[in-house]
Parts: sequence; C-alpha cells; structure tokens
Amino acid sequence: MKIAVLAGDGIGPEVTREAVRVLEALGLAGLELAHAAVGGAAYKAHGHPLPPETLAIARAADAILFGAVGDPDCDALERSLRPEQAILGLRKELGLFANLRPAKVFKGLEDTSALRPEVAGAIDLLIVRELNGDVYFGEKGIRTLPDGRRQGWDMMSYAEDEVRRIAHVAFKAALVRDKKLCSVDKANVLETSQLWRDVVIEVSAEYPEVELSHMYVDNAAMQLVKNPGQFDVIVTGNLFGDILSDQASMCVGSIGLLASASLSEGSQGLYEPIHGSAPDIAGKGLANPMATVLSAAMLLRHSLGRDDQAVRIEAAVARALADGVRGGDLGGTMGTVAIGDAILERL
Ligand code: IPM
Ligand code: MG
Repeated sequence: MKIAVLAGDGIGPEVTREAVRVLEALGLAGLELAHAAVGGAAYKAHGHPLPPETLAIARAADAILFGAVGDPDCDALERSLRPEQAILGLRKELGLFANLRPAKVFKGLEDTSALRPEVAGAIDLLIVRELNGDVYFGEKGIRTLPDGRRQGWDMMSYAEDEVRRIAHVAFKAALVRDKKLCSVDKANVLETSQLWRDVVIEVSAEYPEVELSHMYVDNAAMQLVKNPGQFDVIVTGNLFGDILSDQASMCVGSIGLLASASLSEGSQGLYEPIHGSAPDIAGKGLANPMATVLSAAMLLRHSLGRDDQAVRIEAAVARALADGVRGGDLGGTMGTVAIGDAILERL
C-alpha cells in the first residue's frame, strides 16, 4: 500500500502531518509513505509546481494524500508555473476525472452553519464534480483585438464520452444512497450544458431505480441555501462543481471539515481537503486538520479497500466534535496538533 504524501503550501504541511499521524496510528501492515514537493513549495525548491519526480512518485502510488496548493508569492508567475497548476496537472496526468465531495452536518454542529439549525441539520449530500474537462482545460488566452482592446478568453466544452463517464459515477453513487440524482447545468444559455443534459438523460435509461432531475446552476446555488435537505447526489461540471462545493461547505458550517476524493477509472485516487492553503494562518498551528484526516479516511475506503479503517477514523472525528473539540474555524481555540491529538485519543 503505497501512499504519496504531497503536503504542498500554506497550511498543507500542518494538516497533512496530522492525517499522516492518524494513518500511522492504524498500524496497517505494508503501508509505505513517500513524501514529495508540490505547488509553490516545489516551484521554490525545483523551479516547477509539479516536478517530474513528484509526478513519478504520484503515478507509482496506490493513492495520493494531498494538502493544498496556493502561495501569494507565486501570483505574479506565468500561469504554467503557478502552484494551482500542480493539482490541475495531477488531475489531468493521472486521469482523475471524478471528484466526490460529500457534505454532511456532524451532530452538534447544526449551530455553526450559516443556515438555520433545522435547515442545516438536514444536509447529507454528495457533489460529484467532473474534474478533467470544461473551461478549466480548454484553450485560453489573452489576445489583443484589432481595435487594440485586450480580451481574455477561455474555451468551454464537454465531449459526450466525458459526460457519460461522470454520469455513470454519479448514478452509481446514487444507487447506494437515496437514489436521487440532480444534474446541474446552465442549459438555458450554454450549448455545452445542453449536450451535458442530453447525455445525462441518455445514461439515465440504464439506472431506472434512480430518480433524475435537472437544475440550472443559479437555482441550484439558491436551493443549496434555501433547502439543502432536498439533495442527495448532485452531478455537475468542473466549474459549477468548484463553486457549489465551496458553497455546500459553508452550509455545513466550516470548510475545515470537508474531505474529497478524486478518482480515476481504476482504483487510484487523490484525496484532499476542499479548503485551500489559507496563507493568512499558515505556519501558525491554527488550521483544523479534520478535513485532511477525513480525506485519509476516504483514501482507505476508495483506494485501499479498507472501509473498516475509514469508518474508525470517521467515528473518531465525529466523537471529537461531539465532545466539543473545536478549531478556530468553528469558533473554538484548539490548534492543529491539539485537534490531531484529540482524534488520536478517540481512535
Ligand atoms: C478546488 C480548488 C482548485 C479548483 C484550484 C486550487 C485550482 O479550488 O479543488 O476546488 O479550482 O479546482
Ligand atoms: Mg475550489
């Protein structure tokens, strides 16, 4: 069981360290960890956010535990050298096309949501975000028009096979949950979305047990705040999924609690907290490591086939929260290591 640990920038190393402590505490036989540089840290050390050695270590691993990338020092670099290119490059190079972002309110945390407790308490949804296509990976540039004005442009597109394979992932996920799938698009304006919708409807014929609905992304943003309990599985494209998953995290109460899995067609996956590098609190030991610890649980479940261990970790985190363990993101005072200790004790 080879795990590549790519801690990255900002709070990435701090939160990843706690997740590694939790993994090591399980005492699994045959667990091998390989650390490698990524993001702004890799650019500073090796001149590239995703150095070839890092990519090779990631490729050779059964799973990748990822911290965060993003460093204000690097904002002025040309786009291909910016830290964010590391995660985009890994997603593309390793064919990690299916991003699972579960959002559920932990017991006792109904009050920390930006929503009313009774609304927040009903949240138990899974966002399935396509991760290899859309406007993220289309041609793009800044050009000068004949009249001298500069114009930025980004090409949005989805091919039908790209939609089909993410639709299958979403329908399968719905089958083992409440059997409801909502496909989110902007088909009233975008041709890309019209094709998306047509293909999702085609695929739905293979999943008669799943109730399929469609929603425009603007309405979905509203419904996530108004009545998030209506959602079971949401499937959407790369850009809309990026935005809606941040929104869902605030409905839950903190972005510091949400884990994610990015899966390929095989069992290899990359696991990361959905929060970013949070440069404002980096290096201070203040970040809540729970999202990364929960990402390690997803890693055990989806890439290593150890659902039993994933359940243990999730229970330890839930117990810590129920016992009042709170980082600054939840209005508490506990630091990164103290929260890690609290989880380990309960494990
Ligand atoms: C995410 C992040 C990334 C994205 C950034 C860091 C490129 O926001 O994983 O949601 O936009 O996909
Ligand atoms: Mg995002």
